[in-house]
Formats: sequence, C-alpha cells, structure tokens
Amino acid sequence: MGKLDNLGAIVTGAAEGIGEAIALELASNGAKVACIDFNEESGSDTAKKIIDSGGEAVFIKTDISDPDQVKKMVDGSVEYLGSIDILVNNAAKFTFGAVEDVSQEEWEDILKVNVIGYSTCVKESLPYLKKSGKSAVVNLASVSSIIAGPKFVPYNTSKGAVLMLTRSLAVDLAEYGIRVNAVCPGSIHTSATYKHIAHMGTDVEKTLKEFQEGSLLKRQGKPEEVAKAVLFLASNEDSSFITGENIIVDGGLIYT
Ligand SMILES: NC(=O)c1ccc[n+]([C@@H]2O[C@H](COP(=O)([O-])OP(=O)(O)OC[C@H]3O[C@@H](n4cnc5c(N)ncnc54)[C@H](O)[C@@H]3O)[C@@H](O)[C@H]2O)c1
Repeated sequence: MGKLDNLGAIVTGAAEGIGEAIALELASNGAKVACIDFNEESGSDTAKKIIDSGGEAVFIKTDISDPDQVKKMVDGSVEYLGSIDILVNNAAKFTFGAVEDVSQEEWEDILKVNVIGYSTCVKESLPYLKKSGKSAVVNLASVSSIIAGPKFVPYNTSKGAVLMLTRSLAVDLAEYGIRVNAVCPGSIHTSATYKHIAHMGTDVEKTLKEFQEGSLLKRQGKPEEVAKAVLFLASNEDSSFITGENIIVDGGLIYT
C-alpha cells in the first residue's frame, strides 16, 4: 500500500530535473500521475519510466503560460486520473539579469510562467481539488524567494511571488479542505544549474565547486531530495495540519 494510493496528481515541468523526480516519487507512492511539460520527448519519457516501473502515468503536452492549453490539460488529466487530489506547480522559466538588462517581453514571459501559470493551474483544477477532500497544492518556490542573489531580478521576483501566492491560496482555499504549501530548494543539480552558469559566463567546474561550497553540507542537492519534501506536503497522511507553509531544502545554504 502506498500513501498516495487511489489519488490523482498533476506535476508540471515533469520532463526533467526536479519535476521528473517529483513525478517518479509520487507515482512510486501509489499516485496516478499526469506529467505536464511543453517538452514532448522528455515529458513522454518520464511517463514511460513510471509505467515501466509498474506505476500509472500519462504525458500531456502543455505550455502552462497559455490558459487555453491549461484548461485542456486539466480536462485531459481528469479524464485519465479520475480525480485531481494533488497539484504540483513546478515548471519554471529562468530569466536572470540586473534590472537594466531585462526587456519588457522577458518580464512578461517569466511572470506568465512562474506566477500566472501557477495560478491558472490552480484555478482550472479547483473544481476537482474541492471535490477531493484530501487535496494538496505544492508550489516550487526557491531560496531565491527569500534571499536576493545578485543580478537575478526577474527570477527572484517571480519566486518571491510564488511564496505569497502560496500563502494567499492557503488562506482562501482552507474552507474547501485544500492545503497549499511551498518547497524552497537551494542549489540543486539540474539543467537549471548550467543555465545559471551560462548566464554568469564563468568556468563551469569552478562555479560548480562554488555552488557546492555554498551550502553547510558542501554539495548541491539532488532532485530526489526535493521530491521527498514535496511528497511529505502532498500526503494528507503526513502533513494534514500544515498549510501556508514552506519547507527549505537547501543543505543549510541560507545559514552560510
Ligand atoms: N535547480 C535548482 O537549483 C532550483 C533551485 C530553486 C528552485 N528551483 C525550482 O524548482 C523547479 C524545477 O527546477 P529544475 O531545476 O528542475 O528546472 P529544469 O529547467 O531542469 O526543469 C524545468 C522543467 O519545466 C519545463 N517548463 C518550463 N517552462 C514551461 C512551460 N511554460 N510549460 C510547461 N513546462 C515548462 C521545462 O521544459 C523543464 O522540463 C522550478 O520551479 C525552479 O524554479 C530549482
């Protein structure tokens, strides 16, 4: 018996990195998973990995910044899952830079994915989350929601908004028994690590070492370590009295 048996879960950004690890973790605990991403090839691979290991999953190609696609994604998810009990908002755009570096279009693009996209996924899933009685929303925020790293203005701002979106939704949705929480990863080894280094224009090996030294535990985290915290917040068995909260998974980065 898994702690998420008979529950339906949507995971956005499930094609790779932290989202892929979350989809696999929820499925290995019994959830049926709708793997959502705009990357069709890798997103289908995630669903296939789940099915090959005996779980249940479907891939639905979706750009979460497009409300029409999100609506269709929710319809398709309900058709496959039967219910939506868990929504994990994880997909994200990484736009870095100082305020003078960022165009209007880049600002609009990042907010459409990282903030409005998360809200749209909740809005469209809401009728089903209300029905569940055991439902949980988990939003991927970041240590960048709390600490303003240099020349990271759009990303930091979007992740700060995710924390307040989480608290605001927790307040409004509690009456329906919907818990809403966030996970704030620190430096986790994914393709985003390399997007960050490319933006910095620094030596890859040297910067990776700096990222490792940047936590108390002297290493980057693994996507699977973030997925465990998401599982905890998604599971009504484990976190039934927790809402509006955030768990920091950063190896102690914020204390360095
Ligand atoms: N990696 C880190 O160090 C780190 C640290 C803090 C927070 N986070 C957060 O964790 C989450 C996952 O990060 P990651 O490192 O796995 O990133 P990643 O780039 O490896 O994966 C992100 C996934 O989201 C998908 N995606 C992006 N925009 C999309 C859209 N509009 N519609 C659908 N899918 C879309 C991508 O195709 C990709 O599969 C993000 O919310 C990120 O902000 C990551």
